[in-house]
Amino acid sequence: HGRKRGQEVTYTFTKTCSPALPWSPREVTCEENYMEVRMLTVALFIQSLSLAYRSASVWTVRFQKAGQQATTMNLQEARTQGYVFNVAHGRIVFRTPYGQPDSDSIMVNDVPVEVIQATLFSRQSWVVLMVDLVIACSMYQGSYEDGGYMTWETPETPFPGLNAKQISVGLSGELMEQPVAESRGYIIEKRNNTVRIVIPYSAEGRHRTSVMIGDLFEFFIFHLYMEQISVDKDKVETRLRHHRALTTGLLRHPVITDNRTVVEDRIFTIYLGDIPEDVNLVGLELNGQLFTAPFTNTSTCEVGEEVHPDTTHGFTLKVSFDDPCVIQQFSTEDAVVQYQLDVNYTLTIVPDDEPFYHVASFVAVWTDLTPPAFDAFCSETGIVFRLDRRSLDHKWEVVIGSDPLTSDLANQYGYIMSNDGNDLLLEAPLFTQGYEYKNITLEGFNGTFEIYVRDRETSNIQSSTVKTCPFTAEELIVCSTDGMMTVVADLSLAVPSGGVPASTNLLDKNCGPREADDTRALFSFPVNTCGSVVKLSHGHVTYENRILFDPELLPVTTNTSTDIDRVTVQCAYPIADLHRLFSMFRFEADTTVVGQISHSAKLKAAIEPTTALHTPLPATPQTTGLIAVRAARHPPVRYVKVLSSLHNTAKKSQYFNRQIKGFD
Ligand SMILES: *[C@@H]1O[C@H](CO)[C@@H](O)[C@H](O)[C@H]1NC(C)=O
Ligand SMILES: *[C@@H]1O[C@H](CO)[C@@H](O)[C@H](O)[C@H]1NC(C)=O
Ligand SMILES: *[C@@H]1O[C@H](CO)[C@@H](O)[C@H](O)[C@H]1NC(C)=O
Ligand SMILES: *[C@@H]1O[C@H](CO)[C@@H](O)[C@H](O)[C@H]1NC(C)=O
Ligand SMILES: *[C@@H]1O[C@H](CO)[C@@H](O)[C@H](O)[C@H]1NC(C)=O
Ligand SMILES: *[C@@H]1O[C@H](CO)[C@@H](O)[C@H](O)[C@H]1NC(C)=O
Ligand SMILES: *[C@@H]1O[C@H](CO)[C@@H](O)[C@H](O)[C@H]1NC(C)=O
Repeated sequence: HGRKRGQEVTYTFTKTCSPALPWSPREVTCEENYMEVRMLTVALFIQSLSLAYRSASVWTVRFQKAGQQATTMNLQEARTQGYVFNVAHGRIVFRTPYGQPDSDSIMVNDVPVEVIQATLFSRQSWVVLMVDLVIACSMYQGSYEDGGYMTWETPETPFPGLNAKQISVGLSGELMEQPVAESRGYIIEKRNNTVRIVIPYSAEGRHRTSVMIGDLFEFFIFHLYMEQISVDKDKVETRLRHHRALTTGLLRHPVITDNRTVVEDRIFTIYLGDIPEDVNLVGLELNGQLFTAPFTNTSTCEVGEEVHPDTTHGFTLKVSFDDPCVIQQFSTEDAVVQYQLDVNYTLTIVPDDEPFYHVASFVAVWTDLTPPAFDAFCSETGIVFRLDRRSLDHKWEVVIGSDPLTSDLANQYGYIMSNDGNDLLLEAPLFTQGYEYKNITLEGFNGTFEIYVRDRETSNIQSSTVKTCPFTAEELIVCSTDGMMTVVADLSLAVPSGGVPASTNLLDKNCGPREADDTRALFSFPVNTCGSVVKLSHGHVTYENRILFDPELLPVTTNTSTDIDRVTVQCAYPIADLHRLFSMFRFEADTTVVGQISHSAKLKAAIEPTTALHTPLPATPQTTGLIAVRAARHPPVRYVKVLSSLHNTAKKSQYFNRQIKGFD
């Protein structure tokens, strides 16, 4: 029978087993709730006793307790008192529950033993039949020792006059001979005529159960099976079998958490260990956010399980400081960030699955407030920056030019900004504000984009990331704040057949191209030179020039009246920025300074004005770092990209308007 939640439940089953070994002449069994002796005896006795029950003949049993008068009763009376006498397989069997009035509890070398001595006898005419039936069982309860051992003791021989021959021991019905048991960590010692068996708590076959009573406890049950074989002086064997359930008391079994955090890794590493095998982790609350098993890993939070040879298991929880569930507290005063993680583990004991909780709180202080670093790489259409740590938002801000990077700024300037969990991605398409262009040649040019990280509190710039990427463009115009106009123009329709782009010039015939190939030429000149025409309108100063082909350079036979493309180039500067431009070039008077540069013609311009960034002058000392660079910041440069498609006049003006608009 068993117990389930306080109710007694009875199960019935039948099983027949044959003993593996032949029985010894005398078999004594100390079962958990009865003791028994089974003896081979003479045939006549068996026959007589078999008849006795049926004929109610004169069999008598006499129980003898040490130092007391014997009690005598017939077999029927004995039966009603719980004794069983029987005959089976040529043996006489006597069985009794423990604690009968006719049994004795004695101490044998400090071991409690229950002994019962019964004598069966019958007088039949001239024969007296008599047999002594003695049973002695160790009643030792077992003791659990702190080292993790269960100890049990029994007298070396059940009755006097026997010699111990062999001991086997095991748990849950398994028997091992002494050397095997010892190899498994059992200790079997004989001392003072007592056998002492020491069972390691982890021995195979033991049962362990967790219990939650305010705290986590466990207890062990060892279903001990022990067999002692002894012989008397005539070498007649007695086999004594013990079946004992030895139970430890409730042993405290605390679940432990171990803080294995290494602050430098920016990860909370918390080990929950010493969890018994019948306890499961079913839930986790991280700062109030609930996760239930089975747990799935993310890039910032993972749970791994490990099982230990001692049958406990443990869980390692790793939560990045940057995980959204981690509480961050920034202290301006101490310039530190404090990360906090409160964990509430939900554990259950199988099979009942009653939950209990284990709570722990962790704090890590991050003092290494180095500004976050960007990765940067070139794409076909621009430059991409990636920030792999978005943890220090409160201390740092990202700045482009002089403006903090926000999604509004990104929208305004056409940057593409995305946030994938931990990474901030910023793509600056070519020709957007913030670019600086260098080393422009017909083959290509370099675009440089720089972003800064500055301290939110002090606005001091702490780090910068500069990326230069090579780009190519069929046509291009760059108007820089230091007053240079650089143009790469497709002149294939501007040069009559027989001529070459190298033979073109600006309005001032002395200004020729710096580079030219079969179809294109590159001009680079100060905006106010080379015969530029300057125009003031719409709040802008526009410098305009033209790329012309000198017909005198052609052979006379050539038909020069063919409608050829006239290429106009222009740069427009907002008047608001002009004073700085002027002061830089020390232009003398307002009237002289007004000018115009634009890029247009039959080779129509799709003018995409792009806005600002600082262009340090070559003379600016840049070596002293970012502050110096900021101090040297210049009025925005206007870059105009020119596309090589042809447009009609209406469209031209439209593009022009757009150009103007873009400068606002
Ligand atoms: C053996 O048992 C006797 C009697 O109980 C006791 O006095 C003695 O100390 C015991 N010896 C050992 C080694 O346990
Ligand atoms: C989560 O990661 C840990 C290693 O950190 C691993 O042991 C575990 O199996 C992973 N869990 C899942 C569900 O992938
Ligand atoms: C842990 O979680 C359980 C279940 O949500 C809750 O009842 C308990 O109060 C929590 N313990 C703490 C200390 O937050
Ligand atoms: C956990 O470990 C980290 C790193 O060693 C330490 O800073 C922190 O104080 C520890 N204790 C707690 C309760 O978080
Ligand atoms: C590229 O430009 C820088 C200045 O912007 C100049 O110092 C350098 O010589 C140029 N390199 C080439 C290859 O033109
Ligand atoms: C362009 O930049 C690359 C590095 O990104 C550099 O190797 C190359 O020399 C630069 N080209 C010019 C013309 O400066
Ligand atoms: C030059 O070309 C124009 C238009 O294509 C044509 O009308 C004129 O006759 C040509 N002149 C000569 C000399 O070929």
